[in-house]
Amino acid sequence: MPEIRLLSLEDLPTLMNIELAANLYPWTEGVFRSCFNQQYFNYGVFQHEQLQGFYIGQFLGVESQLFNIAVAPQAQGQGFGKLLLAHFVAQSTERNALDAWLEVRATNQQALHLYQQAGFIETGRRNNYYVSAQGREDALLMCLPLAFS
Ligand SMILES: CC(C)(COP(=O)(O)OP(=O)(O)OC[C@H]1O[C@@H](n2cnc3c(N)ncnc32)[C@H](O)[C@@H]1OP(=O)(O)O)[C@@H](O)C(=O)NCCC(=O)NCCS
Repeated sequence: MPEIRLLSLEDLPTLMNIELAANLYPWTEGVFRSCFNQQYFNYGVFQHEQLQGFYIGQFLGVESQLFNIAVAPQAQGQGFGKLLLAHFVAQSTERNALDAWLEVRATNQQALHLYQQAGFIETGRRNNYYVSAQGREDALLMCLPLAFS
């Protein structure tokens, strides 16, 4: 059975391995390091004591933000992403967030599918926001209202 646990800086090397393998444009270790403080809630999914995926969440004021979510390529398509996202939403609700927010590359079909399935709705678009193989690509802003959930 997969298990979701709070992450600490000790998990950073494994987390970086997943980030580097899963993302064409990975975050640096320094960015991850800056996300381990009281504003953030960062969880990982473990199977057989191995980290399979993680998310970086932030709670600020009345909103939560999903800053990053990734599953190791060899572990994708087995439901870990869905588990992590549901956990992020539950943690946001527990913190009394009114909404949960995230940004996603417009071409990231897997992630878009995951978010739409969880009820996130597109609320905006930042044109040419991300560097991509084609030059630039748009970011979609997505929101999940939680106040009445
Ligand atoms: C997005 C991501 C976290 C999803 O994790 P995952 O563990 O593969 O997702 P799940 O197994 O829980 O699957 C969730 C849904 O996505 C679908 N899906 C997963 N992999 C897929 C693939 N390769 N192609 C098409 N759909 C896929 C699943 O079928 C499932 O939908 P369903 O319930 O309708 O069948 C993962 O693909 C990933 O790490 N991508 C790279 C990092 C990234 O893009 N993060 C998002 C940044 S905004």
